[in-house]
Amino acid sequence: METKQEQEVFSMPRIGDNAPEFKAVTTQGNINFPGDYKGNWVILFSHPADFTPVCTSEFMTFANLEQKFAEVNCKLVGLSVDGLYSHIAWLRTIKEKIEYKGMKNIEVKFPLIEDITMEVAKKYGMIQPGESNTKAVRAVFFIDPKGIIRAVIYYPLSLGRNFDELYRVIVALQAADEFGVALPADWRPGDDVIVPTAGSCGVAKERMESKDEMHCYDWFFCTKKLPEAKIWDAVKKK
Ligand code: BEZ
Repeated sequence: METKQEQEVFSMPRIGDNAPEFKAVTTQGNINFPGDYKGNWVILFSHPADFTPVCTSEFMTFANLEQKFAEVNCKLVGLSVDGLYSHIAWLRTIKEKIEYKGMKNIEVKFPLIEDITMEVAKKYGMIQPGESNTKAVRAVFFIDPKGIIRAVIYYPLSLGRNFDELYRVIVALQAADEFGVALPADWRPGDDVIVPTAGSCGVAKERMESKDEMHCYDWFFCTKKLPEAKIWDAVKKK
């Protein structure tokens, strides 16, 4: 027989789903998600607990990079299952006391959601009982301007996120949309991009023989140049 915990439903939003809706209290006032963020990309992320070391290193890094994300039309929203007063006290401690890797006097200006009921955390699959029943894992949801989930990354409690990767994902998703291309392994702005697979053998043959800027490794794998400046023009102009 299943225990009560095993019967509990933990939903897991998937790529391509509408971001589940919720209203919440945050350190920056009330929010209505994702409605308040329509027209922007947003990274909704969770952390296990306030006043813990890995989370502190991550929050300082998120806050330090907030402007860099804003420049590519991306807002940040954090969440943990702690209460508002814990959030406020922790963020004040970070600002007033913590100096870490050259970052100091760091003010977190993006909203941090209080979720003591775990309502939002459960809706977003942030509570993963095999890891912890009482703390959210380090989830990262990349949500587009229409409120659609476009990528999801989960990290365990013990591992801090890679911020180069979070930024790369936001830029890559926008580049893929803007230019109708796919991005190969380890792609960074300025690297060659993948042209969608040709629909017929004839087109594929033409492509392989074409002398234009396209390079085909085989009929199903063609790349072309996409200058870095074009990427930044597209993602930074919005
Ligand atoms: C941390 O942020 O350091 C942490 C939080 C919860 C469990 C383990 C580590």
